[in-house]
Amino acid sequence: VEVSVLIPAAGQGERLGLGPKAFLEVGGRTLLEWVLEAFQEAAEVLVALPPGFPPPKGLRATFLPGGATRQESVARLLEAASLPLVLVHDVARPFVSRALVDRVLKAARATGAAVPVLPVPDTLVRPEEGAYGEVVPREALRLVQTPQGFFTALLREAHAYAKKRGLSATDDAQLVRALGYPVALVEGERTAFKITYPEDLPLAEALARTWNA
Ligand code: CTP
Ligand code: MG
Repeated sequence: VEVSVLIPAAGQGERLGLGPKAFLEVGGRTLLEWVLEAFQEAAEVLVALPPGFPPPKGLRATFLPGGATRQESVARLLEAASLPLVLVHDVARPFVSRALVDRVLKAARATGAAVPVLPVPDTLVRPEEGAYGEVVPREALRLVQTPQGFFTALLREAHAYAKKRGLSATDDAQLVRALGYPVALVEGERTAFKITYPEDLPLAEALARTWNA
């Protein structure tokens, strides 16, 4: 179909402490392999790798050197995208189901910008001088995941605007919103969690044993 899949995979995985997550093995394959498998039907897949890491052999994707930040890595991938829709997906989220991708794509096609979100399960607090402070109503908040889907031209405009204004962002939807364009929300999936800390690995290993997207 008419979608370019952009995989920011150029991070160093500092919080995990096991090198770049793209090359981290879970269930006998790398996170990059998991993600490429999930998007194997895509017409175009572009991956940003940490600079200096040679592209892995035998994988069906186009590899580019990433930037110093996720935002910069996505900006570089966007320059190379050739199709009218993009899906941006973190390599650190290996378990992405077809249903999740379809939900995001459907909403992105209809509206121009869509992201998956989840309710917050825990109580949220703003610490005050290290002590328990104001509780932030969790019903008002959502956790934001990937894949995030956009009209390619819109996301390009958002990145250009952010660069010009010096805005920095941890995801792409906030740049689109900064441009003044509404971003639709669809239901996320808890299994699409981001592998960030060492404690996330046993959970990922367990999921890998049964995962069949
Ligand atoms: N990413 C990227 N380019 C960067 C930094 C991050 O492409 N310069 C990507 C990561 O590879 C990951 C996604 O952005 O797929 C989300 O980032 P995160 O979970 O923070 O991964 P890392 O930056 O690798 O981890 P850390 O922040 O712990 O170093
Ligand atoms: Mg990071």
